[in-house]
Amino acid sequence: MCGISAVALKEGTVGSAIYDCLTKLEYRGYDSVGEATISNGELMIKKDKGKIAEVENELQLSQLPGLIGIGHTRWATHGAPSKENAHPHTDCKSTVAVVHNGIIENFLPLREELEMTGHILRSKTDTEIVAHLVEAELRSGKNFVESVRSAVKRLDGAYALAIICTAEPDKIVCVRKESPLVLGIGKDGNYCASDIPAFLSKTNRVILLEDGEIAVVTSNSVKILNIEDGIEIIREPFIVEWNVERAAKTGYAHFMLKEIHEQPLSVRNAARTHSMFLDLMAGEIMRAKKIFLVACGTSYHACLGAAYAFSTLAKLSVTPVVASEFTDMYGGLIDNATVVLAVSQSGETADTLSAVRGAKDRGAIILGITNAMGSSLTRLSNVYIGQNSGPEMGVAATKTFTAQYTVLVQLVIASARKRQVITKQELERLESALSQLPNSVSLSLLQEGRIIQIAERFIDKSSFCFLGRGINVATALEGRLKLLELSYLPAIAYPAGESKHGFISVVEQDYPVVFVAPRDETYTKIIGNIMEMKARGARIISLVDEQDKDVVNLSDETIKLPSGIPSALSPIVYVVPLQLLAYHMAVKKGNNPDFPRNLAKSVTVQ
Ligand code: AGP
Repeated sequence: MCGISAVALKEGTVGSAIYDCLTKLEYRGYDSVGEATISNGELMIKKDKGKIAEVENELQLSQLPGLIGIGHTRWATHGAPSKENAHPHTDCKSTVAVVHNGIIENFLPLREELEMTGHILRSKTDTEIVAHLVEAELRSGKNFVESVRSAVKRLDGAYALAIICTAEPDKIVCVRKESPLVLGIGKDGNYCASDIPAFLSKTNRVILLEDGEIAVVTSNSVKILNIEDGIEIIREPFIVEWNVERAAKTGYAHFMLKEIHEQPLSVRNAARTHSMFLDLMAGEIMRAKKIFLVACGTSYHACLGAAYAFSTLAKLSVTPVVASEFTDMYGGLIDNATVVLAVSQSGETADTLSAVRGAKDRGAIILGITNAMGSSLTRLSNVYIGQNSGPEMGVAATKTFTAQYTVLVQLVIASARKRQVITKQELERLESALSQLPNSVSLSLLQEGRIIQIAERFIDKSSFCFLGRGINVATALEGRLKLLELSYLPAIAYPAGESKHGFISVVEQDYPVVFVAPRDETYTKIIGNIMEMKARGARIISLVDEQDKDVVNLSDETIKLPSGIPSALSPIVYVVPLQLLAYHMAVKKGNNPDFPRNLAKSVTVQ
């Protein structure tokens, strides 16, 4: 998730107008930044690795001359943060410049084709191919807008683009397909950006661009066309009443709530992990004698869930380990037949990096799953995958949990396919459920009203317990962590079967016990555990399949979730209500869910 902005001014210096917009989009990405403007018919570009303010100090982006230009603040997905990979990207003759947010899935074959026809590509990004495709169309005699329209028809994936071209220096061509893009109609000129906050201090007259549309923006006009047939679409602006801070949260009260509601998008992005990287990782896993999944906190819970899936789907025994215990517990067993798969959204967690370095020194293969391209974990990994969730501002991990788990499940499926231990039917069922996952998560989010009621009813409770079985032990642990770190309640979590070996002594009249109870292979046993808790007077809050009857009849409160979710994917759907419960409990207790006490977003000390 990057931030793009484009500005067409009637007068003034566009460099500073673009810079101002980018500063309001920094929450979308901040590992590299750049701008391109057209002045005296020339393309002027400044870009580099680093945060917006750092690059401004170094390059004075805001001084770029001209009346028209584009800008970008990056969250790397393809190609680590560097000056070459920073946007804008240009064509061979530096006459076309492009900024992009999203993922172009077929960039590799298009890149090969362009290189075969003599184009020189300078970066490792998927984005740069767009500049060269437009260049090729221009060379064939098409005008700028038609060149862009033909070029984007060749792209697969998600993209929001803003493009300028010296041949028609008064125009910005913007394109939207499954990545957000909005237009701002101003008095001093017109704007285009990934999000409203970018230009809200200049204008609150907004037009939303829909998927499959192109906008041709000049300083005094905006024209919207359909990509497919080029037909013009008339759409009136609407007025936005938000202030900039509220807009950055796109109307949500906190970043955490915004990020919980972003999960259909971040899960979809994660579900688009390139098969090339999954196969590379699965190949390493296949060759290994010992496989460890190493992480901390929420990332460890994703690993725990994945360990169940590796065992049930890929018939592989992998060991999930809390990173700070890894070296003490397994340090001496690591060798060059060992794979350590480390998971870290920040890619900078000291405990995880220390475990990885120790294993690497003993010859282990390091695989990494992270949300931060260019992070230490990517540099230590033999193969790594970016989960592409975009920056997570809330300290409590939410969208990064569901995204990293979505990547892990795809890795399990790739390993099962490689080991030929999964039937074609099962593969098809899992792949269809994966493609449906964004919808399933959206349905789960619709339970928010119900969860607010439950939070109100249990706000005075001094403790909670979360129980799950099988793969949803991980979900129960994650639910507990969210409530604990945000409401500061000493919440407890257990594998439900283990609860009768100790925890049950804590249960008394009206003690709240949350059960993660999908209708999977653990269903009958979890009914037994519910009965045990009810017999001691517990208040039962259950997350159930919408078709459920038996658990519903035993529960005081139920949250109904979509049916037909394969067990291996259920943590992604069943964790969402627990994230919302923790959020609403925290808000009702007057805590700031974005910055809980004593915690840091990335724990860089051991
Ligand atoms: C989760 O909400 C916490 N922020 C924390 O437990 C976190 O998951 C842990 O510190 C690991 O962080 P990482 O994924 O960046 O390595």
